[in-house]
Amino acid sequence: MLTSLSINNYRSILNLVIPLGPLNVITGPNGSGKSNLYRALRLLAETAQGGVVNSLAAEGGLNSTFWAGPENISSGMRSGEEPIQGGPRKDVVRLRLGFSSEDFGYSISLGLPSESGSAFSLDPEIKRECIWAGPHFRPASLLVDRKGPLVRVRSERSWDVVSQSASAFSSMFDNVVDPGSAPELFHMREAIRSWRFYDHFRTDKDAAARKAQLGSRTPVLHHDGRDLAAALQTILEIGDSAALTETISDAFPGAELEILRHEDGRFSIKFSQDGLLRSLSGAELSDGTLRYILWVAALLTPRPPPLMVLNEPETSLHPDLLPALARLILRVSERTQVWVVSHASRLIAALSEHPESRSIELEKNFGQTENCRSGTIGCTCMALARLRECRTGNDDRVEACEMWRRSAVNSGGRF
Ligand SMILES: Nc1ncnc2c1ncn2[C@@H]1O[C@H](COP(=O)(O)OP(=O)(O)OP(=O)(O)O)[C@@H](O)[C@H]1O
Ligand SMILES: [Mg+2]
Repeated sequence: MLTSLSINNYRSILNLVIPLGPLNVITGPNGSGKSNLYRALRLLAETAQGGVVNSLAAEGGLNSTFWAGPENISSGMRSGEEPIQGGPRKDVVRLRLGFSSEDFGYSISLGLPSESGSAFSLDPEIKRECIWAGPHFRPASLLVDRKGPLVRVRSERSWDVVSQSASAFSSMFDNVVDPGSAPELFHMREAIRSWRFYDHFRTDKDAAARKAQLGSRTPVLHHDGRDLAAALQTILEIGDSAALTETISDAFPGAELEILRHEDGRFSIKFSQDGLLRSLSGAELSDGTLRYILWVAALLTPRPPPLMVLNEPETSLHPDLLPALARLILRVSERTQVWVVSHASRLIAALSEHPESRSIELEKNFGQTENCRSGTIGCTCMALARLRECRTGNDDRVEACEMWRRSAVNSGGRF
């Protein structure tokens, strides 16, 4: 389970450390930075898929994703005594992303490409990556350390160099190919690769989920929901079929979901509801009904990942369906760490009732995304100032400050 996430210099997020629990609900008004937080987590996941540099280039390059405000917002700027303005930079400009889990932590630091005459000016360079043991970074707990082209792995009391020519445009996960030389690297890569993101299911009239599709075993629903019927049939055969029936009738009392097997090997869905003389095909379902069924197929996967991230799952669902969706998410959070980004008050309220639920309420102050529950913590001096300030505040803030102070990303501040 991830215990904290740290983001530095990504869009509206100048410095943010979020302590995480088994169920995390990210909320906040429009423009507060929910999607930026979601995208930052996706970028972290891309490091293990070989896509972080391309994704940043697709966002317009690092210069466009860097925080567009001043390096520090002084107390004078906050009180309105001074205008918001930038000064000479003290730190090199880096995008830093990192997380800690109960066993391992990982951080990556990206910077602008050095002048090389290359045409690929949007591609950022990976400056440093670290993997450490335990929930907090300490120099003594470093297991794998990449600085520029050099990747070192700790071995007993010394360091083994496993690569001296790591490409600046790919993560150390892609640069080191021998699993035997750095098992921690491969363990971490596989862990990050197994994170699952659901952002937008297609439910328009041409959506594949509405049509018959090839029926092949599908333990993991595709992120756009194209293999819905096969995923549902897989749950019926090797997953929790009772939960499938329960969660459908929780949202649609008296309704029944069936998977139709066509002669040519394709599968499609059939949905019978009270009051109708015949069942409806996928093409006839309302957007909201189809979307709820897609969430059921995604969440009741027979192959649960360690982390599942759901972006605005309420989209096109009637508010009456949200309590049922919340119960479905709560069921899943017993075996998988879940992130829900949402601004549907009924969904948030239902999820927040759970004792393990952690509410992360974002707000934007001076253009900067802050966590109004846990506090935002900046680079070392700001963190210490805040820590003192927080000592009188709630425990969550203190925990977040401490975490930032000790986190690898903070240490990354001195990369
Ligand atoms: N490089 C940048 N530097 C500073 N702020 C930025 C940068 N890029 C985008 N932003 C700000 O981030 C905000 C958008 O954040 P985001 O899309 O995450 O909001 P949201 O909480 O998801 O909102 P909604 O509920 O409307 O989807 C915008 O207000 C925009 O001004
Ligand atoms: Mg958004």
